[in-house]
Amino acid sequence: KPILFSGAQPSGELTIGNYIGAIRQWVKMQQDYQCIYCIVDLHAIANQNNLHRLYETSLDTLALYLACGIDPNNSTIFIQSHVPEHSQLNWLLNCYTYFGELNRMTQFKEKLIQQKENVNIGLFNYPVLMASDILLYQTNLVPVGSDQKQHLELTRNIAERFNHTYGTIFVVPEVFIPTCGSRIMSLLEPNKKMSKSDRRSGNMITLLDDINMVSKKIKRAVTDTDQPPRIKYDPINKPGISNLLEILSGISDQPITYLEEIFKEKTYFQLKNEIIKSISSVLIKFQNRYYTERSNEDKLRYILCVGAKKAQKKANVTLKKVHKAMGLSN
Ligand code: TYM
Repeated sequence: KPILFSGAQPSGELTIGNYIGAIRQWVKMQQDYQCIYCIVDLHAIANQNNLHRLYETSLDTLALYLACGIDPNNSTIFIQSHVPEHSQLNWLLNCYTYFGELNRMTQFKEKLIQQKENVNIGLFNYPVLMASDILLYQTNLVPVGSDQKQHLELTRNIAERFNHTYGTIFVVPEVFIPTCGSRIMSLLEPNKKMSKSDRRSGNMITLLDDINMVSKKIKRAVTDTDQPPRIKYDPINKPGISNLLEILSGISDQPITYLEEIFKEKTYFQLKNEIIKSISSVLIKFQNRYYTERSNEDKLRYILCVGAKKAQKKANVTLKKVHKAMGLSN
């Protein structure tokens, strides 16, 4: 089976954006790929380097993965820092990445503008560590939300550059971005991506939100004042309604064109009620599973231990190959 790699940061709770754009796809892809799912704690410290409970939040993230349906008997799940090959390859790839390339990364530029403090080198280096994550496992496919597209292009460029110099060392990975739901927007500011680090909690729904809270947040979500009101997918002119349609489509697994058809004559109020119903039923089941998984720490630690061993075995093969090609070993 082809190899698939992806990951999420253990910083804060995962949002329905993470679920719809990424983790929902990860679950489906377990049948056809050899899947490796990473909890990227080293990436998380670049964003927030005063995290004191990082191991605990990594366990939370693992339990979230399991509750979503990632199966540890099928997929390899591990914590990034437990496999030191990630940092080791990172340094080597730094020397094959140009300053100008990283300086063009829009996610970094946005962080630079928003965040006056703590613009650390880790943030700048972030995409190269991502490339290391992916290339270590000779990955064929990387499923992500559309915010990661540019980082994946860089990964491919680094792999091709390295291969051009040393012969075929890395597989050049393909990216998979879902056609619908790859960029879920904020509920109160539908021109901005939904993000777990947002200070306004009304902007996001997390997978662990209380159901009454979800209902309040959806009711407050921005729509528009079009007369007559129309439920139509048009992200440019109707960003609020389009985002609500993407959320409903992602949560209920129904295509947007179908939703447009059934909501053609309906009100925004009815659309929101349907979303509340749909998210609530998914989250109730999900949260039950989450709390059961999270309470079994022995099991979680065991999964991580097995996962790290399996991952390291593969990562080490690639790192050795790289060392040899570069003349660092013979
Ligand atoms: P992270 O933790 O920010 O997000 C995890 C995944 O969720 C997707 N995502 C979204 N999708 C749709 N709508 C949204 N509003 C939304 N917000 C987030 C992200 O695109 C991502 O797929 N750098 C990565 C983690 C990473 C990684 C990797 C991914 C590290 N190494 C190697 C793939 C391969 C990140 O910060 O994801």
